[in-house]
Amino acid sequence: MAAQIIDGKAIAAKVRSRIAGQVEQLKAKGITPGLAVVLVGDDPASRVYVGMKKKMCLELGMHSSDHELPADTSQAKLLELIDQLNADERIHGILVQLPLPAHIDTDQVLEAISPMKDADGFHPYNVGRLAIGKPTFQPCTPYGVMVMLEEIGYDLQGKEVVVVGRSNIVGKPVALMCLARHATVTICHSRTRDLAEVVRRADVVIAAVGKAEMVKGDWIKPGAVVIDVGINRVGEKKLVGDVEYAAAAERASAITPVPGGVGPMTIAMLLQNTLESAQRTGNEASR
Ligand code: GUN
Repeated sequence: MAAQIIDGKAIAAKVRSRIAGQVEQLKAKGITPGLAVVLVGDDPASRVYVGMKKKMCLELGMHSSDHELPADTSQAKLLELIDQLNADERIHGILVQLPLPAHIDTDQVLEAISPMKDADGFHPYNVGRLAIGKPTFQPCTPYGVMVMLEEIGYDLQGKEVVVVGRSNIVGKPVALMCLARHATVTICHSRTRDLAEVVRRADVVIAAVGKAEMVKGDWIKPGAVVIDVGINRVGEKKLVGDVEYAAAAERASAITPVPGGVGPMTIAMLLQNTLESAQRTGNEASR
């Protein structure tokens, strides 16, 4: 049977339209959710992401505040801007676009963002809360993966999830989120012995390594769900995921395409995090 193609574009559009409705409700109470995006330097890919974030923010009726700083901006200047944004009541979410230039201490910058405005969920305080299963900002891409699984009605309880990749942005947090939903989780990485054998037992494979088609189609257990977080450029124009798509789709029950799978979810979930942050502010104000 042909695999169900999990349409990230359509799911992200649905999430955004739900957000727009909730933004309206908050605005009626006098709160406009606000997202600040900070870009240091002029990496073209980062510039495209930042432009998309701003556009979607405005489309959903949110306040957007953009800060584009030159590549030679000092650590102190960047920290000063973050302090200002932390104190700005119109801002409920702050995102500093990564990667930062080499002379900047990224950890120090991420820790300077108020944990109450940490729309990326990268602050150690929020990472810790995620690890102990407390409500927190959920990192956007893993949060998007969870929403996609919910959308196809997939219950993770008791399932074998194999995560390929152990990054702080995707692999580790997505593993924690699956664990919170009662899955049995294995995290694989570059030193895993016999990756193929581990992937073969998975009910759900989540690939997030950033290596073109390194998860082979014949490793996929018939009927498994395949979530491909990778976006790899091959040649001038072509984008492929971390999974050999065509061969995996012959075995999987459901699979995310690349592009048009997990990719569109990330910005939608960033806006969701900003909305949730503004809602918390509203709840505190009405106490
Ligand atoms: N650069 C690439 N992806 C991301 C992301 O999710 N958040 C931030 N802040 N920077 C990124």
